Amino acid sequence: MSVAGKRREDMAASGDGLADRMRVLGTETAFEVLARAKKLEAAGRSIIHLEIGEPDFDTPEHIKEAAIRALRDGYTHYTPAAGIPEARAAIAESVARSRGIPVTPEHVVITPGAKPIMFFLMMALLNPGDEVIYPDPGFPIYESVARFVGARPVPWILREDREFRADPEDLRTLLTPRTKLIILNSPHNPTAGVLSRADLEAIAGIVRGRPLVILSDEIYCQILYSGTFHSIASVPGMQDHTVILDGFSKTYAMTGWRMGYGVMRPALAERITQLMVNSNSCTAAFTQIAGIAALRGPQDCVARMVAEFRRRRDVIVDGLSRLPGVRCLRPQGAFYAFPNVREIDADTRRLAEHLLNEAGVAVLSGTSFGAQGEGYLRLSYANSVEAITEALRRMGVAFERYAARPRA
Ligand SMILES: Cc1ncc(COP(=O)(O)O)c(C=O)c1O
Repeated sequence: MSVAGKRREDMAASGDGLADRMRVLGTETAFEVLARAKKLEAAGRSIIHLEIGEPDFDTPEHIKEAAIRALRDGYTHYTPAAGIPEARAAIAESVARSRGIPVTPEHVVITPGAKPIMFFLMMALLNPGDEVIYPDPGFPIYESVARFVGARPVPWILREDREFRADPEDLRTLLTPRTKLIILNSPHNPTAGVLSRADLEAIAGIVRGRPLVILSDEIYCQILYSGTFHSIASVPGMQDHTVILDGFSKTYAMTGWRMGYGVMRPALAERITQLMVNSNSCTAAFTQIAGIAALRGPQDCVARMVAEFRRRRDVIVDGLSRLPGVRCLRPQGAFYAFPNVREIDADTRRLAEHLLNEAGVAVLSGTSFGAQGEGYLRLSYANSVEAITEALRRMGVAFERYAARPRA
């Protein structure tokens, strides 16, 4: 039988007819838990949503107005693949100001949400067998896409005793001649750890001069409760090594608009743009105009949202810390609590199931973010203080019942 014939037979046997790479593609469990929680809600159950990572605030009015005006003004067609020149310029100005580095519009590629930057960058850089160092626990898409393109994901373990800040000394032991990409994420999802300037300088000292790229996922850079945000791109000599990933989803409560961007060397930006041409063509035109309004308009909406997140952070961390068997660090950024619940059950997938089914509280198991998430839960506090307070009450009851359950 021909090779093609054998392959077709194998496909028929496996039943799905999909390419091999689809077998290693992961997912983001938050969307699955959300779907299950919605199903329970539709069946009449009361569910408190602490699973999905999106601000519950509405997009500020002046940004919506800009989009409506843009639609009326005819921004309803294709744009250049890397983005409308004025939008790229507004992003370049904003990133240059916030990171203290020189950025031109040629450094910027606008994408529908920030996620495609991860996908495109790994498609553009990685050959099969190349190694990607990524945080574990960490945003699940890093590992998923690395595997999808045939690379070898190498976990960089984040530890609670270091407040989940990646340890530069560990990095030294993970680097090999095949390391092509290192992923940083600060403020971090799911642990809320924030890398200090000293951490970034130590990391820079280790990677400087090596032929590798750092993907610096800075999507939560404006959701910070103390101190100032530092980007590795601002460390001398690091800008050319770094691709900054950022966007509008979290800062301006625009998850559904789909607008993000990457900032990188212009030669690499051209290749990422080519991937845009091959996939999306461009980001929605009126969305880009709204993005300009977001960056150049008043910023007090961001400050108000962060102040409210801080209030909720304190409610959820104080409440969790009062529950027997729970220990929770106080997040310095982003809007996630990552309590250690190992004393209740190290199998947090089972515990999260129990919370959803028995208490109507939707949370994620830490293992949704990698093997090192075992023993932790992730709670997004993008919900009202009232809802958080009720969730804490329900969790207290559910944990008590859980401890008293008959065991097999
Ligand atoms: C760490 C991290 N990076 C990137 C993203 C993706 O953002 P966007 O919605 O702009 O694609 C998320 C969204 O949850 C995130 O948590």
